[in-house]
Amino acid sequence: MNRTIRKVAVLGSGIMGSRIAAHFANIGCEVLLLDIVPRELTPAEQAKGLTIESKPVRNRLVNEAFQNTLKANPAPLYAKEFASRVTLGNFDDDLAKIKDCDWVLEAIVERLDIKRSLYEKVDALRKPGTLVTSNTSGIPIHLMAEGRSEDFRRHFCGTHFFNPPRYLRLLEIIPTPETDPAVTDFLMRYGDLFLGKTTVRCKDTPAFIANRVGIYALVSTMKVVEEMGLTVEETDKLTSEIVGRPKSGTFRLSDVVGLDTTVSVSNSLYQTLTHDESRETFQLPAMVQRLMETKWLGDKTGQGFYKKVKGAGGKSEILALDLNTFEYRPSEKVKFEVFNQAKKIDRLSERFGVLLADAGKAGEFYRKTFTDLFRYVTYRLPEISDELYRIDEAIKAGFGWQMGIFETWDAIGLQKGIELIEAQGGKPADWVYELAQSGKGGFYAVEAGRKQFYDIPSKRYLPIPGQENFIILDNLRKSNVVWQNAESTLFDLGDGVLGLEFHSKLNTFGAGVIEGVHRGISLAEKEYRGLVIGNDSAEAFSAGANLAMLFMYSAQQEFDEVNLMIAQFQQTMMRVRYSAVPVVVAPHTLALGGGCEITLHADRVVAAAESYIGLVEVGVGLIPAGGGTKEMAARCSDLYQSGDPELNILQAAFMNIATAKVSTSAEEARQMNYLRRGDQIVLNRSRLLAEAKQAVLELADEGYTQPKQRADIKVLGKSAIALFAAGVAQMRLASYISDHDAKIASKLAYVIAGGDLSYPQLVTEQYLLDLEREAFLSLCGERKTLERMQGLLTGGKPPRN
Ligand code: NAI
Repeated sequence: MNRTIRKVAVLGSGIMGSRIAAHFANIGCEVLLLDIVPRELTPAEQAKGLTIESKPVRNRLVNEAFQNTLKANPAPLYAKEFASRVTLGNFDDDLAKIKDCDWVLEAIVERLDIKRSLYEKVDALRKPGTLVTSNTSGIPIHLMAEGRSEDFRRHFCGTHFFNPPRYLRLLEIIPTPETDPAVTDFLMRYGDLFLGKTTVRCKDTPAFIANRVGIYALVSTMKVVEEMGLTVEETDKLTSEIVGRPKSGTFRLSDVVGLDTTVSVSNSLYQTLTHDESRETFQLPAMVQRLMETKWLGDKTGQGFYKKVKGAGGKSEILALDLNTFEYRPSEKVKFEVFNQAKKIDRLSERFGVLLADAGKAGEFYRKTFTDLFRYVTYRLPEISDELYRIDEAIKAGFGWQMGIFETWDAIGLQKGIELIEAQGGKPADWVYELAQSGKGGFYAVEAGRKQFYDIPSKRYLPIPGQENFIILDNLRKSNVVWQNAESTLFDLGDGVLGLEFHSKLNTFGAGVIEGVHRGISLAEKEYRGLVIGNDSAEAFSAGANLAMLFMYSAQQEFDEVNLMIAQFQQTMMRVRYSAVPVVVAPHTLALGGGCEITLHADRVVAAAESYIGLVEVGVGLIPAGGGTKEMAARCSDLYQSGDPELNILQAAFMNIATAKVSTSAEEARQMNYLRRGDQIVLNRSRLLAEAKQAVLELADEGYTQPKQRADIKVLGKSAIALFAAGVAQMRLASYISDHDAKIASKLAYVIAGGDLSYPQLVTEQYLLDLEREAFLSLCGERKTLERMQGLLTGGKPPRN
């Protein structure tokens, strides 16, 4: 279907509507955001002499809602100015404007009668062919379309976003039997390519896939917590990073989301799911009922499972709810013996065996909760999905789990999982026994680098559709590894493209990663068309340099060694830029310090929209010296023709480094000049490596030639140093920065200005790299810099000394 989406109407500007509107603005759409007209004037409006006919009054709800959204943290917009793409209005005056919209997305209050009456108006005003979708979390989609025109019904379906819509990657698409299949296909594709979502097609069953399974998991966990007498902190520790789930665990997450949301979904599931064999689980546990009575719903009511209070000396303190006494007490750090062992296992899939085998409380908790969830999902096929992979995709993208339920089971072993379920007195669905007896192995298999799922009706493995557009490194580990060391792996990505993955802790640059970069480039120059540097880690593209060695040499005053290390790091970055084949870098999530520097040296960057990029070295008492400062000086020099005052351009770059500013999106990184015009932003992270590979091929096809080192970088010398020195002195006087901050900033000023030159001049890259190295070396000799490094290395925050 040839359809473009230029203009979207979002109906309802509540929590979801405003944020969905912001996300459409993020991707460049024009948005019309509407809400109801208030019935009464506020005292302030009365005092101003306004009437109910005044525009500011009529748009009050939408205005306030959208303003609040703009202040939300984390930010719903990639960049503040995108807010201008959203036009605000109200249903009474502006609904007719939907005739110009390509898609009308409804996100009003969760009531069938109210939604239906709005759809009646929409049906009368929309032009034929306009998509109409609902963000409902629980109302059956087909009921909402009843009574509408045929064209409406053919273009109507559910599009269920998760909160916050910019960040949570799931978009469930729920067609009715009357939805035109071309509409469903379009939305599946549009959601993936343009909104950057993992789109999962769902059946029109209660709460669709992610909430059906996710709320089950939540309530079932709470019941185990009650039964075992675990504390909220223990539960959160057990259900967070160690098992590849978000840091917030179970109860902290509930506080963020609001307990009432869970309660309302769970209650409605209990009422509607009369056929569900585990229906009783949706009966809320006693603790939840009690919290609902006291209205301790979480952050929105100021307290929930946790409460933040001002303690002695005005410092904020976190209290936790004692689930026995229902009183708050200081939150405690918890430890589980088995975590010491499990934490040492980097690969998540290999951790579960250890955790489940534990003889202590942790093991018991995992055996109970994991097996209950395993069992539950086996009975949901084909009820909520015909294919098992959709359940995994929905739970991963909707709840931020790194591994799906069937994937986790596979990691433990199919037979082992069955035994664990049986040991708890349960039984999985018959098809699982059949699969186990067939000797096939598991729920998934990898064939020729592609992941396949077990298809229950045909009893065969089938490829997961859409995967041809993705490169998933885990699927290539058996077949395509060309070389590896402890911190990096080279993959043959096909079509003559080599891929370099880092896998050190937080993908920091240590000797192993640096060796990987050199190996990768050398090999690519000999045998490949180009190199992709990227990974699909959940946490970080790269959090920067591994400071352990640098700290050791600096503390021992082995400055020759330090000098050598920096020189080698600089050479590595320069090789990325000056290799004989194109090198494309694919940052995502965190790209800090060295992670940012390697990005700056790519021939082209293919960045995930959610990339947090920054030169943060100042935080540990250093300046960027892997070519980062040099590169920003060069990029400023390239901008000097733009007509803006040169000093202003340089000052912006200086301030970004001096304040260790990190972009909050790839768009913002572009504004900060960390990404350039030719660099590409990819909305759907799952496509990042495939797009990066494509970029290598494009560059190679265009006849890539090895660039020459630059000798044309215009630096501003003394005038810039003087300007920055005045700024630094002022900040110091006002106590915004410490003496040490001021010292680092003045060294940075010196380097980025190209040294103490009397007038602007053209210099070479090597000249700037030498300045970087000298400044860096001198800072390594500073006690306060060592304190900052040590602070970071010992797991805390570097001190602001
Ligand atoms: P909300 O309460 O924040 O916003 C509801 C909006 O509906 C408000 O803008 C309100 O002014 C408007 N509204 C109220 N009465 C109305 C009426 N008579 N006619 C027209 N509009 C009216 O709700 P929220 O959370 O944004 O939910 C909106 C929809 O999104 C619901 O269908 C909900 O199930 C769904 N949803 C909510 C999620 C969440 O986490 N909050 C997640 C996914 C879906």
